[in-house]
Amino acid sequence: MATTATLTLEGKPYELPVMTGTEGEKAIDVRQLRKESGYVCYDQGYGNTGSCESQITYLDGDNGILRHRGYPIEQLAEQSEFVETAYLIIYGDLPNPKERRDFGDLMRQHAAIDTQMLRIFEGFPREAPPMGMLTSIVSSMAAYYPSLATNNFESDLANFDLTAAMAISKIRTIVAGVYRYRHGMPFNYPKDIPFCDNFLHLMFSEPYKDYVTIPEVSRALNLILLLHADHEQNCSTSTVRMVGSSGANLFTSLAAGICALSGPLHGGANTAVMQMLQTIHDEGDDGTRFIESAKSGDKNHRLMGFGHAVYRNYDPRARIIGHACDVVLNKLGIVDPLLDIAKKLEEAALKDEYFLSRKLYPNVDFYSGIIMRALGIPTELFTTMFAIGRSPGWIANWKEVASQPKGRIYRPRQLYTGPVKRDYVPMARRH
Ligand code: ACO
Repeated sequence: MATTATLTLEGKPYELPVMTGTEGEKAIDVRQLRKESGYVCYDQGYGNTGSCESQITYLDGDNGILRHRGYPIEQLAEQSEFVETAYLIIYGDLPNPKERRDFGDLMRQHAAIDTQMLRIFEGFPREAPPMGMLTSIVSSMAAYYPSLATNNFESDLANFDLTAAMAISKIRTIVAGVYRYRHGMPFNYPKDIPFCDNFLHLMFSEPYKDYVTIPEVSRALNLILLLHADHEQNCSTSTVRMVGSSGANLFTSLAAGICALSGPLHGGANTAVMQMLQTIHDEGDDGTRFIESAKSGDKNHRLMGFGHAVYRNYDPRARIIGHACDVVLNKLGIVDPLLDIAKKLEEAALKDEYFLSRKLYPNVDFYSGIIMRALGIPTELFTTMFAIGRSPGWIANWKEVASQPKGRIYRPRQLYTGPVKRDYVPMARRH
């Protein structure tokens, strides 16, 4: 295998080192190129740029492979649960029984929202968007716990076990608080029960009437969160790394990640899928008409939940969620016409030349909304659910940045295409 690549610029050859990842991925190291040649690499949106070395997640979009710390997502989905997978992603290995217990205990001890922090909720209008509330409240954690968020890697890493557990646990509690606040309901206090059951209690328990968790519901929630736990250098994770690279503490970096997730091209797609399925249903279409309009090339009529920036194959998470959808709805005795429409769309698209030739397959968002709806989670909270699930990935990536002995601030270059130098024109001479 080549160890260097030769690039010839203006007749002069430049030898660039070739790097190889543990799964055989190859990269050309261009770090010295600008210094030596004056050229930068142009890669709008970083689609072909390796911005870091990372040991957390391996993703092969062409072959539909996703592994966390080496473990295939299919095995984790089948045999692990969210908190254990979170530990794996953050710490690099599956926990032994004591490590798992300690991690869970720490999360339970720090599950509640500080009384003073609760007052922040009251500053929002009832109809405030959930992601806007979540971002603000998570970023406020840096102000509420200043000794844990010093913007100094050494001291912040010394408290990392605590801040990591706090962040995952509190983000979950805040999401439930956002739901209850928006609906004018009193907050519930977290209980000493497993992570997902606690979320369902925080969301749905009523005064004198505790929510009774059905094991299938708890398992399905675990699965949804686990399947979102990390996904390599996506927009929000790269944002966390970028903000963290400036020395920013974990809470502040996480808040930045949540901001990035709020966009419709990233965390908002699951909501768009549900809106699409509902529209198809309301219009009395069985999906056939919609499929035809999705092939028009009009961005406003895309088949939402299909296609992916890196997968050119079936998103392995979509396959797992699609199967879980059937199991959960069957167990709960729910008949959802939107699931029938989704299946028809998938069947039709997977036979259609338009989708096949463009390698457009279902992504994780295609079925996740249907499961969340079956669990009683309202559409307005879907993106915040994604944030709970993705928190371990963000935390692990922040830790990688903070732990690098020779880390540098993320600072890309650009190709300037604005006006060339010109002289200032005084106001009186401007027309
Ligand atoms: N429906 C119909 N046509 C599509 C779709 C779709 N969902 N996605 C892509 N195409 C078409 C494009 O029109 C284009 O066609 P053309 O070659 O004739 O011009 C071709 O497929 C390639 O499309 P691009 O936009 O270049 O593909 P890209 O990889 O940039 O887009 C994206 C990926 C944004 C996810 C896109 O597939 C999409 O908009 N999908 C729907 C939204 C969605 O489900 N997003 C969730 C992503 S998963 C996540 O964030 C967790």
